[in-house]
Amino acid sequence: MIPAAPTRPVAGRPVADLRLHCMDCGTAVAGDTAVGVCPACGGLLDVTLDLPDRIDPAAIGQGLPAAIARSGVWRYRDLLPALPDAAIVSRQEGNTPLYWDDRLSAYAGLTGAFGVKHEGHNPTASFKDRGMTVGVSHARATGASIVACASTGNTSASLASYAAAAGIPALVIIPEGKISGGKLAQTIAYGAKVVQVEGDFDLALTLLRELTTKHDVYLCNSVNPFRLEGQKTIVFELMEQLGWRVPDVIALPGGNLGNTGAFGKALGELLRVGLIDRLPQLAIIQAVGASPFAAYHAGGWTAYAPMAAETIATAIKIGDPASTPRARRSVELTRGLVTTVTDDEIMDAKAAIDRTGIGCEPASAASLAGTRRLVAEGHITADATVVGILTGHVLKDADAVVAYHLGDLDGAARPGSNRPVRIAADLAALERVVDDALHG
Ligand code: F0G
Repeated sequence: MIPAAPTRPVAGRPVADLRLHCMDCGTAVAGDTAVGVCPACGGLLDVTLDLPDRIDPAAIGQGLPAAIARSGVWRYRDLLPALPDAAIVSRQEGNTPLYWDDRLSAYAGLTGAFGVKHEGHNPTASFKDRGMTVGVSHARATGASIVACASTGNTSASLASYAAAAGIPALVIIPEGKISGGKLAQTIAYGAKVVQVEGDFDLALTLLRELTTKHDVYLCNSVNPFRLEGQKTIVFELMEQLGWRVPDVIALPGGNLGNTGAFGKALGELLRVGLIDRLPQLAIIQAVGASPFAAYHAGGWTAYAPMAAETIATAIKIGDPASTPRARRSVELTRGLVTTVTDDEIMDAKAAIDRTGIGCEPASAASLAGTRRLVAEGHITADATVVGILTGHVLKDADAVVAYHLGDLDGAARPGSNRPVRIAADLAALERVVDDALHG
């Protein structure tokens, strides 16, 4: 039998003073149990933080316990929920590189600069680890006996890893046949119980939310505000890498829109504690076939309609993003931009990123493809400084790489495709290949 969802803190497991509030009606909610949505109105919850008036940049990351001193998330502990040291599950996540490459600036149409913050350099190779260290730590602090998520693949890999680190069983629900082999392999290898459901991600998440409302199963999707607290640190770390000088635009893919929600909260908090003095614009990029948020924005926020999602970028193949209200708040706060890109635009931008030797998974490349479109349409000026978030590693979706470069994507070879050649084991044949490579 599965225990019922708890309505009170788990006995004997006191958690520091954790508080939440509803972003719609403001109702205060205790943060010491597994969290879902506002009990009063069903709205999404935010973690309430007591932020100091100022944070001295030199004090950041000082005096941390050894177990988390190397985490690029817990480094920003003054801007995170006060979880007890003993509950924290960390894999030295974060500390991801920020790369600049003139070829990518040129691809985007910028005379300014295009940088990429590579979140694929996290322990399980996506940005999800930043959220998961906080989410699973909160789960542990509240005495969760099982943690669960629905996923397009990266959340599941990350949850499986952090749950294994914490010694808590993990349940993962994925849309059958619709996540990449690499992500499925990670999830299985790290030991999560994997359930494949007939249907898409949106259906899988709905099913899980029914389960977690009824039973004592800790929900680790980005509906959970503790996850988003960790994801804020992408922005914190980026700004610190930039010496707290704010770029003009931060471009990121929009799927379930947790990151978009987290980025707006992060920027608002940095401004409040005096670490930055202005806000960049957020640019949210969705795949054309999975773009309910872009349509909602284009219609002046008047009508929101979920859609049946279809895109090659399986990570963002989501038709009813759970964090839509949070994302709207982030776009409004930053006078942000929202646009869509086709699958071809995504894959061509991915090939450009891969070709620099940096590499990323398809969804990540939406940040470059979208920037290129926004520059071409005049929404971003050519002399702007833009940072794109690469959300996952190139090896996350090897099939997409092979399909692109071997030319069987829609039957046609794409620009920049790099087709392996076959030769007999013969020196003259090999010499011709070298000659071609040098002069061809
Ligand atoms: N990029 C990658 C590589 C992702 O895995 C995701 C989301 C996103 C972008 C979109 O981020 O949801 O915060 O807007 N993947 C989730 C998952 C849904 O289950 O792994 P978002």
